[in-house]
Amino acid sequence: MDTSSSTLLQRVSRSFRIIGNALGISSARYATHSEVSSYLHQHLECVAADLNWPAWSPRWLGVSSTGSLLFRLESIECPSKCIAIGRYASHTSMSSGVAEPSLPRILLNPAAGIERESRVYQSLAHHGLTPRLLFADTCCLVNEYVDAERLSDVLRRDPEQIWLWLPKVLDAISAMHRFNEHHLDLNCGNILVQPTSGLVRFVDFEYEVSPEIELPQSQSFDYVRFLHGVLKRRRGEKAIQRDPTRFLQVCRTHIPSEIRRRAMTFPAAVLGRTLRYSTIFET
Ligand SMILES: Nc1ncnc2c1ncn2[C@@H]1O[C@H](COP(=O)(O)OP(=O)(O)O)[C@@H](O)[C@H]1O
Ligand SMILES: [Mg+2]
Repeated sequence: MDTSSSTLLQRVSRSFRIIGNALGISSARYATHSEVSSYLHQHLECVAADLNWPAWSPRWLGVSSTGSLLFRLESIECPSKCIAIGRYASHTSMSSGVAEPSLPRILLNPAAGIERESRVYQSLAHHGLTPRLLFADTCCLVNEYVDAERLSDVLRRDPEQIWLWLPKVLDAISAMHRFNEHHLDLNCGNILVQPTSGLVRFVDFEYEVSPEIELPQSQSFDYVRFLHGVLKRRRGEKAIQRDPTRFLQVCRTHIPSEIRRRAMTFPAAVLGRTLRYSTIFET
């Protein structure tokens, strides 16, 4: 998205006028909040009936980092009860392309992002790795609401929680790869965790690998990005600095050795903060 349309989107998001081709309109135009609400009502009535949802209404959460509108569907009888969550994107809301040229991934355009995210949710939800998909078309995706916290929030509050979640997330990444999927944007904000049950769910699949890298490398990249995020100052860094040996041990136990070996071929810009603990990748 260029700066002017980004600023425009931010500015108008409160009144929910968005640039879009939803509502069956092919050229870019503004849609009002009520038009988008009516789009959701039209398209979700049958889903709601199928799932036996109570009366519901959308509440807008804001504009996502990639320009789609995030919303939650709430029960009208009990507004604090969230039924589902979703994103609404327009083809013109964000240009696709390489967001960070040093990283081996491409940000998909909004329609392709929705397509990829729906496909991955369909393939991974029944393995307990993502939320379930409830509805998708070219400009809108709705998935089940997971009553969980983002790992970024958990670690910001208590960095010691890294010891609980590090092995669980590493195992969940391995499971995702066994089902032939990869994430490519595994920062701690895209990982939902539920302390009571220990469940881990991945969200936000809007990137694809850049053509020059192959599947095994994309799997190594997932681990590298996750660890790079975990090593951030306001995530797990402090706890890890207090016990680096434990960190290395958990990583070496929970990341397959062939994946660790492949990560060593990445340039320093990709390895990021994991360079401080590069023996993770030695086999
Ligand atoms: N609590 C939740 N339950 C289920 N899915 C969620 C939840 N929070 C976020 N998501 C998923 O994450 C997507 C939004 O990604 P998010 O990481 O919140 O935004 P951003 O694109 O700004 O990084 C939603 O479309 C939804 O699929
Ligand atoms: Mg995200």
